[in-house]
Amino acid sequence: MRIRVLGSSAGGGFPQWNCNCPNCDGVRRQLIPARPRTQSSIAVTANGEDWLLVNASPDILTQIRDNPDLQPARAIRDSGIAAVLLMDAQIDHVTGLLMLRERSTPLPLLATPEVLSDIGAGFPITQILSHYCGVSTTTLPIDGSHVEVPGLPGVHVEPVSLSSKPPPYSPFRGNPRAGDNIGLGLVNPATGARVFYAPGLGEVSEAVMERMRACSVVLVDGTFWSEDEMLHLGLSAKRAADMGHLPQSGPHGMIAQLDKLPASTRKILIHINNSNPILVEDSPQRMVLKRHGIEVAFDGMDIVF
Ligand code: MLT
Ligand code: MN
Ligand code: ZN
Repeated sequence: MRIRVLGSSAGGGFPQWNCNCPNCDGVRRQLIPARPRTQSSIAVTANGEDWLLVNASPDILTQIRDNPDLQPARAIRDSGIAAVLLMDAQIDHVTGLLMLRERSTPLPLLATPEVLSDIGAGFPITQILSHYCGVSTTTLPIDGSHVEVPGLPGVHVEPVSLSSKPPPYSPFRGNPRAGDNIGLGLVNPATGARVFYAPGLGEVSEAVMERMRACSVVLVDGTFWSEDEMLHLGLSAKRAADMGHLPQSGPHGMIAQLDKLPASTRKILIHINNSNPILVEDSPQRMVLKRHGIEVAFDGMDIVF
């Protein structure tokens, strides 16, 4: 089984179009050791040819171009993307669905009822797509039970409910429901090896920690270094907690959580916001991650499990 990281940045990407923070300005002008990154998405394959796209980023067309493995070209119109699974209804995770409208058959789409309701109403993507290829939905359970992805033999997923936030346009932004955000266990049925993927994680509950302990790789929320980094940089009044993201630093932050896992667990941060100092490869914060054995995902990264 293989995961290809298509986009390792949070919403806005890196650099963000209108941002002139030291990170965005530095990467744009090539003044800092940092790689540009597209918006949050991964793809998963069991056979190297058919892929489950997990999240459909606004950058999907660039990501497909940058990853020729996703284009096996078996017919005049063809893509390796066999189905799409959504972790939440955030703009950075769903907008790319509109870019897949040229399909000749309905797009297989896996999501929770909560996510399907947000993208059927507040941001009515599925209504719009019904005038193009349409979607064929599979409702995801969030009790941790095992789901085989239709059309993708060998790809097994275990969705679990997470504490985070639905998008600002959701009527439930201030009142999150189970199913607004999920984490995903990805299972290699041949070996039993597991990866836990959660690009939006506001809190590591005991249940989430237990799931992570059962995994050989965890690929989790790396949005912010500190609770108030956007405030300090004068970028936004939003704090990490307001947005449903657990920052890395602090006594109960993501580093402290990942420290509870065995040393043999591969720990990788993903969905990195452009304000986060860990994007700078020689920053003190990046050195802290190194000391804790924590990696930072980049676009094009392959994770084999
Ligand atoms: C989030 O996960 O909070 C998003 O990246 C925000 C956004 O897309 O605007
Ligand atoms: Mn996001
Ligand atoms: Zn920036």
